[in-house]
Amino acid sequence: MSTELIVAELERARHRTLTLLEPYDDDLLGTQHSPLMSPLVWDLAHVGNYEDLWLVRALGGPGVRPDIDDLYDAFRHPRASRRALELLRPAPTRRYLAEVRAQALDRLGDLGEPDADPLTRDHFVHRMVIEHEHQHAETMLATIQLIDPATGARLGVRPPAPLDGIAPGESGIGGREVLVEGGVFVMGVDDDPWALDNERPSREIDVAPFWIDATPVDNRTYLAFVSAGGYDDARWWSPQGWQWRHEANLSAPEFWSQDRGQWSVWRFGCLVPIALDEPVQHVCWYEADACARWLGKRLPTETEWEKAAAWDPVTSRRRRFPWGDSGPDATRANLGQVRLGPVAVGALPDGASALGIEQLVGDVWEWTSSTFAGHPGYRSFPYREYSEVFFDQGYKVLRGGSWATDPTVARSSFRNWDLPVRRQIFAGFRCARDA
Ligand code: AVJ
Ligand code: FE
Repeated sequence: MSTELIVAELERARHRTLTLLEPYDDDLLGTQHSPLMSPLVWDLAHVGNYEDLWLVRALGGPGVRPDIDDLYDAFRHPRASRRALELLRPAPTRRYLAEVRAQALDRLGDLGEPDADPLTRDHFVHRMVIEHEHQHAETMLATIQLIDPATGARLGVRPPAPLDGIAPGESGIGGREVLVEGGVFVMGVDDDPWALDNERPSREIDVAPFWIDATPVDNRTYLAFVSAGGYDDARWWSPQGWQWRHEANLSAPEFWSQDRGQWSVWRFGCLVPIALDEPVQHVCWYEADACARWLGKRLPTETEWEKAAAWDPVTSRRRRFPWGDSGPDATRANLGQVRLGPVAVGALPDGASALGIEQLVGDVWEWTSSTFAGHPGYRSFPYREYSEVFFDQGYKVLRGGSWATDPTVARSSFRNWDLPVRRQIFAGFRCARDA
């Protein structure tokens, strides 16, 4: 039963990868559109190489192309340098992915005693590879969003295809705050079969009472910050944020533009009016931090965010998702690239947490005030480079997943991280304050 689920999820991830890149020609796939991102064809081959490493060779198979491990090792080649590599062309890359997949499925069928090894127990390594491919699909979508409109127009670029499925509806109201009473809750998990090393182990942790916004900060609120001169007033910014705001000449979220007082946003090659009711996205941590301060609030800590999302104070138990343990659907969360953007704040009341906090999972990744670090008792598994090498390096934690995140990568315990200057990711924020 579980093997069938794994095969279906491997196929679903591959379907997303291939349909995402399907509209684009070889030139576009081979171009590095931003120094922040890889050429798309690098991501594609890297996804295959990761599967070759973990689902073929780590499980005793010969592997398909050990000779190209170096090319697709994210640590050997920083993103900005990947354009200079002799990368596989798109057609051989697709063949490579198919060959790896065939061998991976052979190995999966041959797996012996499944519980003997922690790598294969509950198909851990297969789930890790599925989540990896979906994470790259989100990264590739961020790359596609960065294709400059002139290049896009010249090459006749079409927007990416959304996935089939039911997209969440629109409408709602935001602006509410919820009180989270102080006290102990259980942070992290021990036995979620999809959980990656950095979500483990669980532990009890006491949290002081705090207020948290019931929905993410919307474009209307963020635009008010912009219009009030928020970018020109050092009072709202951290010292490093203020410095970065000048160095990078920030004046509004990435992709926003203004014409005679009218604000619009570039979305996948189209300039569209800003939807005031939608959560703001494409702000960096420094901008989120400044806007929160302007609002008289602050970003939640990672611990506060997880308590708000996972804790049911009535049963004193964690929930896998804010609304409970059953998986997401269109009434509860906007996930999975079914719709190529967020829905309005307040549009998904059925997705509320035990305390009535909405849109924690899906729509936009939410910046927290916390620096990415290991939970006490953390042990890297199965390799240090997934998370451990990023601990205590100034990366900020993001929670909840975006509209571009697959459901297999979205849960109350999932941890994402990025540098405080990054804003090409689908990230926004909600505010908190002490009670
Ligand atoms: C968890 C999104 C920060 O993209 O660097 C992809 C995910 N790890 N391949 C990243 C990841 C290895 C990772 N993030
Ligand atoms: Fe990767």
